[in-house]
Amino acid sequence: MAKLDILIAPDRRLRTRCAPVGKVDDAARRLLDDMLETMYDAPGIGLAAPQVGVLKRLVVIDCARDEEEPAPLKLVDPEVVWRSEELVTGNEGCLSLPEVYVDVERPEAVRVAYLDENGEPQELEAEGLRARCLQHEIDHLNGVLHVDYLSAIKRGVILRRLDKSKRRKKD
Ligand code: NI
Repeated sequence: MAKLDILIAPDRRLRTRCAPVGKVDDAARRLLDDMLETMYDAPGIGLAAPQVGVLKRLVVIDCARDEEEPAPLKLVDPEVVWRSEELVTGNEGCLSLPEVYVDVERPEAVRVAYLDENGEPQELEAEGLRARCLQHEIDHLNGVLHVDYLSAIKRGVILRRLDKSKRRKKD
């Protein structure tokens, strides 16, 4: 396994609608493993392929609490196939927007269809933090970031600040 570099916003690759994987091959499996290692190292509870510069529909999550056993989940071509009517607001962070936390209102529960790492179709139902994490990561596959739930003015301020601090690091 290898640790990958995480892209920091603003970056055009984080704004791209990613392509379906379709057939799960060894390269996809290796990438999922590398994404998990990168996510644990960060540390984070979810990571989408575009965040490591790969514009494909791949997601890893692990929402287990510190005292719980790790519960890694690898999803290929995930799709939300059902959303609860009940909405909840929760505070979200994102590895591609360091130290930017946004309150986002989302369905409390979702059902997600996906392919597992063997290419088998699966479905899972999630609620609470796990549902929020899945929705946040699937947003990434469509080029959507948590700051998009803010007003254009607030979003602009945050993205310009991130851009400035990126430029400062490059110099
Ligand atoms: Ni994110």
